[in-house]
Amino acid sequence: MNLLGNGLHALLQNPHLLDKLRADPDALPNAVEELLRFDSPVDITAWRYATEAVQVGDVTISSGDPVLISLCAANRDPAAFAGPDRVDVNRQPTKHLAFGFGTHYCLGAPLARLQGEVAFAAVLPRFHDMGFSTDPEELRWRSGLLRRGLEHLPVSFRPTSTDGSCPVVAAERLPTSGVYE
Ligand code: HEM
Repeated sequence: MNLLGNGLHALLQNPHLLDKLRADPDALPNAVEELLRFDSPVDITAWRYATEAVQVGDVTISSGDPVLISLCAANRDPAAFAGPDRVDVNRQPTKHLAFGFGTHYCLGAPLARLQGEVAFAAVLPRFHDMGFSTDPEELRWRSGLLRRGLEHLPVSFRPTSTDGSCPVVAAERLPTSGVYE
C-alpha cells in the first residue's frame, strides 16, 4: 500500500541510493524500514479518544476528546530521528510508527515488509538509469487523510538483466496461458 511508490519516489530523489542498494542487496531490509519512516504510506490513524486528560507540548487534550494522529509527522519528529528529512538507509529507524503502535499494530506488517524487499530486490538490478520521466514538482499526491501516496509515478529506465537479456522483451515473449515454471 504505497510503500513501493513512496519508496521509489524517495530513491529517485536520492539516485546514489539506487546504486548503493544494487551493490549491497543485504542492505534492503533496513532500507525498506527507512523508506517506511521517511514517507509513510499510512498517514492518519483511526480516531482515538483520550481516556484521561493529557498534555502534549502546550496542548491539553481533555478526557473524551477525539484525536487524530499523523504517523508521517511522528516519523519526521526531530526528537526521535536525527535529520528526519534526510533518507539515510544506514540509520536504524527501529522506532518508526509506519505500522502504528500497540493494540492495533498492523497485522500485515511482516507481509508488507517482505513485499517491499522482494519488489525492490527485483526492480533495482533489472532497471538501470532510473529517473523521473516527468517534472517531479508536478507529481500529485492523492487527496485524503488516511493514505499517503502518489496518483502516478512515471519513471524512465534502461532495462537490463542479470543474464544479459532484456527483461521487458523476455516478458513480452511469455505465453499468455499455460504453466509458468
Ligand atoms: C506498507 C503496507 C502497510 C502499511 C504502511 C500499513 C499500516 C498500518 C497501520 C498504520 C495500521 C494501524 C492503524 C491505526 O492504528 O489506526 C494498520 C493496521 C492494520 N493493518 Fe496494515 N499496513 C500495511 C499493510 C497491511 C497488509 C498487507 C495487511 C494484511 C495483509 C494489513 C492489515 C492490517 C490490519 C488487519 C490492521 C488492523 C489491526 C488492528 O486494528 O488490530 N496491513 N496498518
